[in-house]
Amino acid sequence: MNPLNVVILAAGKGTRMYSAKPKVLHALAGKPLLQHVLDCAISLQPQNICVVYGHGGESVPQAMQHYAAKFVVQEPQLGTGHAVQQAMPYLADDSQTLVLYGDVPLIQSKTLHSMQQFGGALTLLTVNMVNPAGYGRIVRNAQGDVISIVEEKDANEEQREITEVNTGILLAPTRQLRDWLSRLRTDNIQGEYYLTDIVGMAVEAGVTVRTVQPAHEWEIHGINSKSQLAVLERSWQQVLAARLLAQGVTLADPARLDVRGSLECGRDVEIDVGCIFEGEVKLGDNVQIGAYCIIKNTTLAEGTQIAPYSHLDGSNVGSACRIGPYARLRPGTMLHDDVHIGNFVEIKNSEIAQSSKANHLSYIGDTTIGRRVNVGAGTITCNYDGAHKHRTVIEDDVFIGSDTQLVAPVTVARGSTIGAGSTITRNTPEGELTLSRSKQVSVKGWQRPVKQTTGK
Ligand code: UD1
Ligand code: CA
Repeated sequence: MNPLNVVILAAGKGTRMYSAKPKVLHALAGKPLLQHVLDCAISLQPQNICVVYGHGGESVPQAMQHYAAKFVVQEPQLGTGHAVQQAMPYLADDSQTLVLYGDVPLIQSKTLHSMQQFGGALTLLTVNMVNPAGYGRIVRNAQGDVISIVEEKDANEEQREITEVNTGILLAPTRQLRDWLSRLRTDNIQGEYYLTDIVGMAVEAGVTVRTVQPAHEWEIHGINSKSQLAVLERSWQQVLAARLLAQGVTLADPARLDVRGSLECGRDVEIDVGCIFEGEVKLGDNVQIGAYCIIKNTTLAEGTQIAPYSHLDGSNVGSACRIGPYARLRPGTMLHDDVHIGNFVEIKNSEIAQSSKANHLSYIGDTTIGRRVNVGAGTITCNYDGAHKHRTVIEDDVFIGSDTQLVAPVTVARGSTIGAGSTITRNTPEGELTLSRSKQVSVKGWQRPVKQTTGK
C-alpha cells in the first residue's frame, strides 16, 4: 500500500461559536476538537500530517505543538479545495492523501481503515440522511456509479432530493489530487474552490470513485455551534458509558457520567451518579465510587471505596482504603493499603503508610506518615513558613491528639503520643507523651457578664 499523508482542514472561522477561541480548540470530552482528529490520524501511522489553519492565528499550532505535524496557514480562506492546496507542497506524490476536518472530532480509525482498502481509487466517506439539508449531495448515474458531488447551493430540485451526502472526508491518490486541485475553478454560487469538484475530474480521468459509510453517524458530525458541541458531547459520553457497561462496570446511571480522558476499570467496579473522570484514571477490582466525585490522573487499587463528593487529583491509592465523604487528595498523594481519610481532610504531596487514619478536618501537606498512625481531628501540618515548604515526618504507631499543629520541619518519633491542642515545634522522643499547652485553671466565683438594661 502507498504511504498515507493526512491533511486536516481547520481554517474555518467558527463564527457561530461566538467565542474568541478558534473553533477547533474547543473541548469535547476534555480534549480540543482538533486533538481528537490528530490522535485518530496518528493511529493510522501516516508518513506525515498537515494541519491547515487560519483563524485564531498562532494559537492553533501553539496548542498542538507536541504533535509531529506540519502547520500551514490558509489566508484568505477561498474554499475547501483551496485549503487542501495549501498542504500540497508537503505531500509526497506516491502517497495517498486523506482529508479530515478539524471540526469533525469523532471520526474513528476503523472507518478510515475501511476507506484505505481501495488503494488507488478516489474514496469518499458518505452517509444517507433523512434530512440532508446543508450537505453536498452524491450524484450517481443509472449504473449507480458516482459521477459528481453537487453542493446544496448549486443543486437543482431533483438533486436536492438525494439523501446520500458528502461527509467531506475523502482519500485520493496524491499525484492526481495535485493535478485536479490545480485545475479547480470558482465558477459556482459561492465563488469558492470546491474540493468536491475533483470527483468529476476523477470520473473524467477514468479513476474509480468508491464510497464507504462510517460505522456510526456520530463519527461524521461536525461542530459549528455550542449547541452541536453539547449534543455531540452527550452522544460520545453515551458511547463511553456503553463501553464500560459492556465490560461489566456497574453505572448507577449511564447518562450521569463524564469521562474526559481514559478510564480503566477492573472487575466489579461500581460508579454512582454524577462522577467526572479526567486524564488517566485506573480503578482496580471491586472499587466503589460514591456520587459526585471528581477523579483525575489517579490510580485506586483493589477494594478501595470513595464516598460521595470527594476530589482526587494526581494520587496513588492502595487497596482497601476508605476515602471521604468530602475528602480532597491533591497531587503527590500516595496512600498505602487500608488507609482511612475522612471528611474535610486535605492531603498534598504526602505518603501515608498502611493502616493509618486521618478521619476529620485536617491538612496534611509535605508529610510522611508511618503505619498505624492516628491523626486526630483538626490536626494541621504547618508546612509553609511564608517562604519555604518543609517536611513533617510522623513515624509508626504515633497518636496525634485533636487540634494539633505540627510546625515543620519536625519529626514525631515512633510510638509518640501528642496531647490534644498542642503546637509541636521540636522533634518528639520515641514512645513518650508530648504536649504543649497551658495548665487548665478554674476561677472560683467568676460571674458571667450580664446585659445592662438602660432607662425605662
Ligand atoms: C463541505 C463540502 C460538502 C460537505 C460538507 C460536510 C465542499 C465544497 N463542500 O461543505 O460537500 O457536505 O463540507 O460538512 O467541500 N475550511 C477551510 N478553509 C476554507 C473552507 C473550509 O479550512 O477555505 C474547513 C472548515 O474549517 C471546515 C471544513 O473545511 O472544517 C468544511 O468547511 P465548510 O465551510 O463547513 O464546508 P461546507 O461548505 O459546509
Ligand atoms: Ca459545514
